[in-house]
Amino acid sequence: MKGVILAGGLGTRLWPCTKVTNKHLLPVYDKPMIYYPLATMVDSGLTDIMIVTGGNYAGDFLRLLGNGSEFGLKDISYTYQEGEGGIADALKLAENFVDRDKVFVMLGDNIIEDDIKPFIEEFESKQEGAHIFLKEVSDPQRFGVAEVEGGRVKNIEEKPKSPKSNYAVTGLYIYDNQVFDIIRKLKPSGRGEYEITDVNNHYIRNGTMSYSILDGWWTDAGTFESLYRASRLVEKKIKGD
Ligand code: DAU
Repeated sequence: MKGVILAGGLGTRLWPCTKVTNKHLLPVYDKPMIYYPLATMVDSGLTDIMIVTGGNYAGDFLRLLGNGSEFGLKDISYTYQEGEGGIADALKLAENFVDRDKVFVMLGDNIIEDDIKPFIEEFESKQEGAHIFLKEVSDPQRFGVAEVEGGRVKNIEEKPKSPKSNYAVTGLYIYDNQVFDIIRKLKPSGRGEYEITDVNNHYIRNGTMSYSILDGWWTDAGTFESLYRASRLVEKKIKGD
């Protein structure tokens, strides 16, 4: 299984901090944000990872992460997304890197507490289709929201005004190799982006989407509020209080 961390986008919600570096290099407690999804991948046993980045500070990633050996990686690759075409548009750029393998995708501004290695291993050994991770939240309107019925996900709505549940779809996705065929057939959404929610709904319609619910905390870090929250959660975990 290959790993892809999506760290493109322009980070406009964190302006003016993102005027001078990439959002994913801003500190979350005592480390740059990108270290957390990277650690989740390494802890899950992945050693071959691609970073998709964009904007004016792509070179900062190379300076920070180098050839990845410091993090226990066998290989680290980088690619560049022009503009902000959406999460699925960013993932498309990893097609050659993923080759014929399965892929674990994580958004570069997502941080989790849990160890998800067992799910990665299970998917790798037998499963076709896709797997997503849900988490109950109090502000589902900010996220992709999953409607769950009878142990299956029925549908996902991207940032709904009237959410059908409190289950946010977190930015961690496991896909089989079909994902790139699905992305090729996507049309841009109303906001002009290639949406990962459309990719996930495709697997749901095919009947090949499974899910699990994260036990520990999860947060994104793409706004000043969530960035602050992420730092507090990491601090608490480190200090054990
Ligand atoms: O955090 C989980 C949520 O992430 C999901 O619940 C949503 O379904 C999903 O659409 C996404 O929503 P956001 O509005 O939070 O996505 P955002 O535009 O903030 O992008 C999140 C990360 O994805 C960002 O840190 C880098 C990557 N990205 C995003 C875009 C739009 C790219 O690499 N390229 C892009 O063009």
